[in-house]
Amino acid sequence: MRINFILVLLQLILLNLNYHDAVEFKFTNFVCENYNESWVTLNECRLRAVSRNRTIMNFNATLRHSLNNIVIQAQMFRKANGYKPWLYKIEVDACRFLKKPYNPLAIIVFKLFKDFCNFNHTCPYEGPILVKGFYLRLSILPHNIPTGDYLVILKWVQHT
Ligand SMILES: *[C@@H]1O[C@H](CO)[C@@H](O)[C@H](O)[C@H]1NC(C)=O
Ligand SMILES: *[C@@H]1O[C@H](CO)[C@@H](O)[C@H](O)[C@H]1NC(C)=O
Ligand SMILES: *[C@@H]1O[C@H](CO)[C@@H](O)[C@H](O)[C@H]1NC(C)=O
Ligand SMILES: *[C@@H]1O[C@H](CO)[C@@H](O)[C@H](O)[C@H]1NC(C)=O
Repeated sequence: MRINFILVLLQLILLNLNYHDAVEFKFTNFVCENYNESWVTLNECRLRAVSRNRTIMNFNATLRHSLNNIVIQAQMFRKANGYKPWLYKIEVDACRFLKKPYNPLAIIVFKLFKDFCNFNHTCPYEGPILVKGFYLRLSILPHNIPTGDYLVILKWVQHT
């Protein structure tokens, strides 16, 4: 059985990709939805402007059960008369990934996040899931991503 438990939507604008961090991107919206309070509690899901040129993302959830079969489905959209699916749609077995990273795109995404989150051990996961002070380090992104307005949707699913 598949249980959807968290949906995360992040909107951002990429203004300019070069080797300098900050300034060149902007998070514009961040929304989380909790599908089942008996699985997870969402404590925080928000963007915060910490200076004129930097907005950070904070995410704090509490897993109420021990989870050892988490799948993350991620899809990117790019705005062009509304958001259209853009190139990437992946499904990653998070527990397998944490043992041995395996999908090139997921590896990039994980590099972006790993210094800001508590995904530093293998499954099972229970209790706090944290992303704190996250911002994009453009030096980690592939340099061929076009500027534009993007939407990233992450769906967390537990297989039982
Ligand atoms: C943000 O902008 C200020 C001046 O507007 C600049 O001094 C600072 O270095 C910038 N910070 C980053 C992280 O780019
Ligand atoms: C939430 O999860 C519990 C435990 O798996 C299940 O019994 C319940 O039906 C789920 N609720 C919803 C709204 O899906
Ligand atoms: C996450 O949220 C919980 C519950 O509100 C809180 O006790 C905890 O301090 C928060 N953790 C962080 C790192 O903000
Ligand atoms: C994971 O991070 C937490 C909090 O930063 C730390 O207490 C813990 O020792 C780390 N675990 C591993 C396996 O690195």
